[in-house]
Amino acid sequence: MLGVDVAEAALAIARAKADEREIEVAFAAADAFRLERLGRRFATVLDCGLFHTFDGDERPGYVASLASVTGHGGTLYVLCFSDDGPDTGPHPVSQEELRAAFDPSTGWKVAAIEPDRVQTRYHDDGAPAWLATIKRI
Ligand SMILES: C[S@@+](CC[C@H](N)C(=O)[O-])C[C@H]1O[C@@H](n2cnc3c(N)ncnc32)[C@H](O)[C@@H]1O
Repeated sequence: MLGVDVAEAALAIARAKADEREIEVAFAAADAFRLERLGRRFATVLDCGLFHTFDGDERPGYVASLASVTGHGGTLYVLCFSDDGPDTGPHPVSQEELRAAFDPSTGWKVAAIEPDRVQTRYHDDGAPAWLATIKRI
């Protein structure tokens, strides 16, 4: 298992949480737009709170970068802020935006999008989220 973030401060928090929970996981500083530089291939990839930070014109590069490290038949889970309020997080995303970003022409197929919650520092019970299950084709 490998966790990545571009920020060393975020990696330090993640390492501390993994230690506390006794989870064995490696961490690496990496740019989500250049994941191919990891030289790795994964069967399962999880995006927790990253997709929704990118503007529409940044999404194709990120989606292609994800495809470069996900084996065919692999599964990507995207947990992002949803536009289905109340009390949505910043940069909420619609189901249509997720389906457009992961259109089959990009090498992905959206299998399911379900309502969920994502924990934040400013929501007591998390913010409305989509949990998208997306297959690499
Ligand atoms: C909303 S936070 C989510 C953090 C963590 N995944 C979580 O669930 O608590 C977004 C994270 O994306 C990271 N990030 C932003 N742009 C990135 C990029 N281009 N490559 C990798 N990480 C990036 C930020 O450093 C930040 O830690």
